[in-house]
Amino acid sequence: MSASLNARIEEARAQALAALSSARNPADLEKVRVEYLGRSQGRLRDLLTALKDLPAEDRRAAGAKINALKEDLAGALSGRAEQLGRSGGSSAAGGADLTQPGLARQVGHLHVISQTLEAIKDVFGALGFSPVEGPEVETERHNFDALNIPKDHPARDSFDTFFLSCGLLLRSHTSPAQVRVMESQAPPVRVIVPGRVYRPDAVDATHFYCFHQCEGLMVDEGVSFSDLRAVLTMGMEGLLGAGTKLRFRPSFFPFTEPSAEVDVSCIFCKGAGCKVCKQSGWVELLGAGLVNPAVFEAVGYDTERYTGFAFGIGVERLAMFRYGINDIRLFLENDVRFLEQF
Ligand code: DAH
Repeated sequence: MSASLNARIEEARAQALAALSSARNPADLEKVRVEYLGRSQGRLRDLLTALKDLPAEDRRAAGAKINALKEDLAGALSGRAEQLGRSGGSSAAGGADLTQPGLARQVGHLHVISQTLEAIKDVFGALGFSPVEGPEVETERHNFDALNIPKDHPARDSFDTFFLSCGLLLRSHTSPAQVRVMESQAPPVRVIVPGRVYRPDAVDATHFYCFHQCEGLMVDEGVSFSDLRAVLTMGMEGLLGAGTKLRFRPSFFPFTEPSAEVDVSCIFCKGAGCKVCKQSGWVELLGAGLVNPAVFEAVGYDTERYTGFAFGIGVERLAMFRYGINDIRLFLENDVRFLEQF
């Protein structure tokens, strides 16, 4: 056999095997296959073509060598393909390249508002308040009338409430659920109502047309303002940390009498004054009061026998304060760079 053809066969074998072992994916393998085993221009084909230049007596042995190399390469190709996670070695299409670094899967979690609602449910649950839900599409009776909100109250203006064409409306607060709960059960009552509410507000850093509140209601014999104060103090300490102080400012809500706006001491400066609390040391988080007997009358509760308190927490407000978030729009933009921080 010609020494030079023999050398070319061995050289092809060595180079093909080296190329195979450095192949990283099906496309690399296909390149090797075409270069060596390709029918029209493969190197083995060239070697076979070169046989005709050999003396007749050498052709058989050289041909056998080339065929052996062909079989060896085909075997090595499929072996390597298997190593790379493929069963066949001849197709470049598809297939996973197990040698590439993996793609880390993003694991989701509860939205920061859902987390805040869960925290509220945990804290008030420990104080004996059961969570209930009310409908987001409400009647005027539940959203306004039974809550002692008169027909000419500005909240009933179409600028302040989304009225639907069917005579219903999107609830503008969670307070209507108070009415639904009291209509459906006799005292004692101890519930919280977390949920979504709607107002046609112009959107800015602190306003959105859809947000969340959590209503609280307790009704029993002898419930007083000091019970309200105790429950809210424990609740806010649970949500914002021990030592959180409450400040009750006289206010007005038609469904409570007396009514108060409740501020909590700023958790960032501990009341000394900072940017978050606008140097006041306090942040307004909720409205509260003793249930107005007019509301009890609307649901048929005995106003001589029962008293109660109610409160409404602004959930976005609480979350913004808790986490130092300065724009309510961030909650709804669905930017994972924001959401994954909580
Ligand atoms: N419903 C009131 C609002 O939308 C919040 C509120 C104030 C709820 C006082 C109450 C309450 O239960 O007692 O702003």
